Amino acid sequence: MKRDRFYITTPIYYVNDKPHIGHAYTTILADVLTRYHRLFGIPSYFLTGTDEHGQKVYQAAEKNNVTPQQHVDSTVVRYQELWKKLNISNDDFIRTTEPRHKIVVQKILQDLFDRDEIYRAEYDGWYCVTCERFYMEKDLVEGLCPEPGCGKKVDKIREANYFFRMGKYKDWLVKHIQDNPGFIQPDFRRNETLGFLKKDLNDLCISRPKTRMNWGIEIPFDSNFVTYVWFDALVNYISAIGYQSDDKKFSELWPATYHLIGKDILTTHTVYWPTMLKAMGVPQPETVFAHGWWMYGNDKMSKSMGNVVNPMDMIDKYGADPFRYFLMAEMSLGQDASFSEEAFTRRYNAELANDLGNLASRVMKLTEGHLESVANAASDEGDDESVLRDAVINAVRGLRESVFSMKLDQGIAGIAGAVREVNKYMEKKQPWTLAKQGRKAELSTALYYGIEALRIISGALYPVMPSKMAELRIMIGSEPPQNDYDSLVNWGQLKSGTKIGKMASLFPRIVAEKSPVKEENSADAKKPAAVPVDGVASIEYTDFQKVQLRVAKVLEAEKVQGADKLLRLVIELGAEKRQIIAGIALHYKPEDMVGKTIIVVANLKPAKIRGLESNGMLLAASSAGVMKLLSVDEVMPSGSVIK
Ligand code: MSP
Repeated sequence: MKRDRFYITTPIYYVNDKPHIGHAYTTILADVLTRYHRLFGIPSYFLTGTDEHGQKVYQAAEKNNVTPQQHVDSTVVRYQELWKKLNISNDDFIRTTEPRHKIVVQKILQDLFDRDEIYRAEYDGWYCVTCERFYMEKDLVEGLCPEPGCGKKVDKIREANYFFRMGKYKDWLVKHIQDNPGFIQPDFRRNETLGFLKKDLNDLCISRPKTRMNWGIEIPFDSNFVTYVWFDALVNYISAIGYQSDDKKFSELWPATYHLIGKDILTTHTVYWPTMLKAMGVPQPETVFAHGWWMYGNDKMSKSMGNVVNPMDMIDKYGADPFRYFLMAEMSLGQDASFSEEAFTRRYNAELANDLGNLASRVMKLTEGHLESVANAASDEGDDESVLRDAVINAVRGLRESVFSMKLDQGIAGIAGAVREVNKYMEKKQPWTLAKQGRKAELSTALYYGIEALRIISGALYPVMPSKMAELRIMIGSEPPQNDYDSLVNWGQLKSGTKIGKMASLFPRIVAEKSPVKEENSADAKKPAAVPVDGVASIEYTDFQKVQLRVAKVLEAEKVQGADKLLRLVIELGAEKRQIIAGIALHYKPEDMVGKTIIVVANLKPAKIRGLESNGMLLAASSAGVMKLLSVDEVMPSGSVIK
């Protein structure tokens, strides 16, 4: 894929809320995508910021006896501090209360008003004083305020307001969406907006009388009104990059490559914003990308449920980088994902502590103990080495494609797979045995391959875990990662004679903690000791955690010669390809297997079956001589983790 510039935005966050995992997620995602584009040598620009007007801010300030401006000045810091802690590398941070933004909003309003794109009209509606909101007659519930938990009496009022002629752009918008399939992503979100546009599209009320709410950007042609908060907020994407103030900067950056948003703000971004831009005569962004929501288990996160995950707590407990890694690896872009500390711990222990951390410490220890801490270029390279080299480089190439196709989780899974390949190589070469037997040349080769793989892998994961991967680079005596993609797809850049640095524990294993609250209060605590089920001993949850089950897709299948029961399968696990030997030939023909979605144990130690390597095990149910494969009940991408 060719891309020669990259401009990405996050939603601007309401300063009134405490930052939660959803805010952290979008910002980390934008950061990781930007860092990858920089790595690929593509000029990149990343904007985030805060949405500081509107009624909630106004009310909170009143409650605290401060001015709204004082209030936002103190609350914006929560976001700025969080981004610092999370190592976010944004190029700009826009606040909608800044003059550079307000001036642009006013210029746009004046221009649209002058060209009759905005008009004044009387508005009939029902007003709820408690909620300070208008409702249409049809919205009321038995004539009362429809807001859940309110239900109060509403007053009929007639109020003058200003309206943007949004309705007249409906046909144009439908055509634009249909002609540009990449404009709203993922596809099912595009269909959602097209569905919304099947109904009439009303004009948009873009003002609020100051008598009701005096906190917002003043309407330039009528000082009795302030601007509706969304009409103000959306403009940040262009006011920050020089629209109407710095033509050069604006023409270099606009149109945005991606507006990243959560699925709940789809209509504002795919209906209000495009029609506003159309009326202004500004080109459309390339893609509005709506990601899913982080749930807590199966529940929506909400203050009332008390299950909102605070990113600061996660960072304090586990560090910023593992948290960044988990969020990026766990969510398939577009889908909802479920957060839990158990899922975090499981992935952390498997992929970071066991696979990557142990690989690094093993290679470091052996190099220190047997090669005087020096990595020497390989002298004899065989098939195992070329297989390893290809696996690592292919994973990096796959990651690049997955960044462009917004399948970041798959790209990361590919790198995690490459780490496992390096571990497998180490298991096979047994450098500790080579050291004992004094086979220095082979030992040198094996360790050089280990260190060189770590150099590439740390460069590839640097955008996800900038601090930890820089640390790893220093450990192996290599340069901190630069924005040099070529050095990651060309094997052998680690100079022969490189002295490795000091070893540190990169990802100490998380030992499942016993939460006293749970012990004392939860139902689990009162359960009797585990008893065997059907004669099979019960296991602890931590035992189960050791098994990584994943969704896989069968790419190839054939009979294993001379073995009636065995099939040789090539499966896809995210960006990784593997071979497994499965005992299902009596129940499934090879041609029936291809294309099937199956479940595999992904972290089983590789084994040789009839001389063929089997790297994982598929799951099937068996009863009375019948065997049926396990699968998932809806389409899920290969590589998805089962928990
Ligand atoms: N201020 C507006 C955006 C204006 S953009 C011109 C706003 N702010 S917000 O702070 O309420 O929400 C910001 C983002 O957080 C939204 O994209 C929303 O989808 C996202 N999330 C809120 N809860 C979320 C989860 N539980 N999971 C993932 N993202 C979620 O809306």
